[in-house]
Order: sequence, then C-alpha cells, then structure tokens
Amino acid sequence: MANGLDEVVAAETVLSDVDGLGGRLTIRGHSLADLAGRRSYAQVAHLLLEGFFDDLPEDAGLKESLGQARAEVFERLRPVLGALAALDVYSGMRAGMALLPDRKTLADALRLIAAPAVLTPALLRMGRGEQPVSPDAQADHAADMLRMLKGDTASPALAKALDTYLVTVCDHGLNASTFATRVVASTQAGLTSAILAGLGALKGPLHGGAPGPVIEMLDAIAESGDAATWLRAEIDCGERIMGFGHRIYRVRDPRADVLKAVVRKLVAAGGAVGRLAFAETVEQAALDVLRVAKPSRSIQTNVEFYTALLLEAAGFPKEAFTNVFAAGRVCGWVAHAREQQLTGRLIRPQSRYVGPLPELVA
Ligand code: ACO
Repeated sequence: MANGLDEVVAAETVLSDVDGLGGRLTIRGHSLADLAGRRSYAQVAHLLLEGFFDDLPEDAGLKESLGQARAEVFERLRPVLGALAALDVYSGMRAGMALLPDRKTLADALRLIAAPAVLTPALLRMGRGEQPVSPDAQADHAADMLRMLKGDTASPALAKALDTYLVTVCDHGLNASTFATRVVASTQAGLTSAILAGLGALKGPLHGGAPGPVIEMLDAIAESGDAATWLRAEIDCGERIMGFGHRIYRVRDPRADVLKAVVRKLVAAGGAVGRLAFAETVEQAALDVLRVAKPSRSIQTNVEFYTALLLEAAGFPKEAFTNVFAAGRVCGWVAHAREQQLTGRLIRPQSRYVGPLPELVA
C-alpha cells in the first residue's frame, strides 16, 4: 500500500509539474524563473485559468476583472467583517469565503481568487482596532493587498516583492491542498466548496502552516544563542525543523531561491540586513544538523523558510502568513478544480480493512 499516496499518480493535469530530482517547477509550459518577477499575479492567474472558462477575458483584461472582484467581495462581506474579525485571521478568512456563492462561473472563480487578498488585510486591521480599507479596483492585486493592509500606497519594491511571492506559490502539482480541492471538485460540488477543502488542508504545519513557526524558530534560536544546539535538541525530541524537507524535492526547492533573491532585494532597498544574515546562518546550521540526524534522506530548504522572511519584511504578522500563501495558491486551486470538473472522474479510492471481522467481535 502507498503510505501517504507516495508516488501515486492521481490526476492528469496541464497546469504544473514538480521535478523533485531536478529541482524544477513548470507552470503551463513556463519555468518558475520565466514567471516569478516577470509576470504579474493577474497574468499568471490568466495563464492558469485559460481553457476553463468560455468567458475568460483577454490576458490584459483579467487585472480589471480581478480588481472588480476584490471590490465585490468587500461590499458583499462588509456587513459581517466585525463577526469574522472576532475569529483568528485564518478562520475569519475561511468563514468569509464560505459565504460566497457556491457555483462554477468565472465570476464565482474571480471572487474566490480575490477574497484572501481582501479579507486578510481587512481582518488584520479590524483586529487591531482600525477601520478596513476598501479595495482599489484599478490597482495591481499585490499592491492593493498591501495598500489595504497599511492604509497607504506601498513602495513599488514591496509591491513587486509580494507580487513575485504570490506568483511563486500559485501552483505546485498535486500537493495536499490541491488534491483536497480536486477531490471535492470531482463530486461536481461548486468552487467555493472545493476551495474550502484546499484552505483546510493548507492550514496544517506540514503544509502551508509552516512559515509562522519558522519565525518562532528564528526567535527562539536568537534567544538561545546557538543554532546548532537548539536545532539538535528539537530533533532529539522528535520535532521537525520548519521550512525544511519536502515530499517531492530531493534537492533544494527552486521556490526557496526565488524568494531568497526577493528578500535580498528588499534588504538592499533598506530592509533588515541583520535578520537575513541571521536566517542564512540558521539555514546552514539546520542543513548541517539534518544531514547528520537523517543521513538516509536528503532534507533541504523548502519554500516556507524564505516565505517567512519575505512576509515578515512585507509587514504581515506571522499569524497571517498562511492567509497570504492562500492568496497566491487560490488561483491554482480554482484551475485544478475546473480541470477536475471538466475532464476528471469522481475520485474514490479504496481502503484496506484491517479491523476485526464481525464473527470475531464478542
Ligand atoms: N525536520 C526533521 N526531520 C524531518 C523533516 C524536518 N523538517 N522533514 C522530514 N524529516 C524526517 C522525518 O522525521 C522522517 O524521519 P524518520 O524516517 O527518521 O522517521 C523522514 O524525514 C521522513 O519523513 P516523512 O514525514 O515521511 O517525509 P515527507 O516526505 O512526507 O515529509 C514534510 C515532507 C511533511 C514536508 C516534512 O519534510 C516536514 O514535516 N517538514 C517540516 C514542515 C514544513 O516545512 N512544511 C512545509 C512543506 S512545503 C509546503 O507544503 C508548501
């Protein structure tokens, strides 16, 4: 039996491919390096959605449609923002998204893609006693998310950094949250139901919940003073080092390098030089400790390590890092859900029963 569905091919997709030995990510025929920092999030969303909606606008038109969708989400959910802000920021975002229509149209898809970028800043602001800021439908998606968070126009460097992040995490093969999304979509449920499944799977610390704990680890190591000793003690207690290891990659996750370069640029433009240098020291110590502790497995830096530094530098609190991950991944989920609905079959694997037989039960 395939434990954890290791190496099982459960879908055919035209959307993305993860080459775990070569350390390459391909998205609709483009390498990650061709997209991250070169195409905007709206352009990459267009690339992913192409062929799945008859009324998809031309490439250039999607920026405007996504902007309108942000405005619509804000207006629709404005009356309940207060109640959503009483929850933790991830649950609040998920609960807000659950209130969106559960259908399969392009308008439904765009509202779902827009929602994390609208709800996350609104809920963070309300959580600190500030008024939410309305979206600017004309703005770029990432720049608008930052403006709604800070209440002021973000620097072009910061907007570009967040845009590059959202593109970098937009899709990544049949990861746990995308698989969960496809399972629900395969029942022909609506897109909201499918995306809620993805949101549930993303939250866990073995998947998209890792970057917040990366910051906690960096802070704990800074306090303890010695990275290697701290990391070894964690492994001795059976803990995992957050931001390292991957089911598919046996080499360094290519997204980690893209994001590290983005953090470097931010630092060069006036960011926290010491924080990056410290993180690089911890990264090297973790790789050394893991090489010794787990010699039979190649455990390398994954996307979440530099995600944590990037989102910290962008001004997001660590409890909202998974929300921002969702803001990027959601267009991949929508594309996979539509691909599954249009070309797939009900996903219904089998389990092997290892419980007692009826006649053996007393
Ligand atoms: N720290 C310590 N040990 C690790 C780590 C780690 N980060 N990753 C894997 N291992 C070890 C396990 O303890 C296990 O050791 P054992 O054989 O001695 O028991 C061995 O490697 C295999 O572990 P699995 O869980 O079977 O490996 P898998 O390939 O499923 O792991 C995973 C992938 C879950 C991501 C893992 O590397 C991990 O837990 N990493 C830390 C959390 C994290 O960074 N998650 C984000 C992943 S990226 C993303 O989802 C966007």
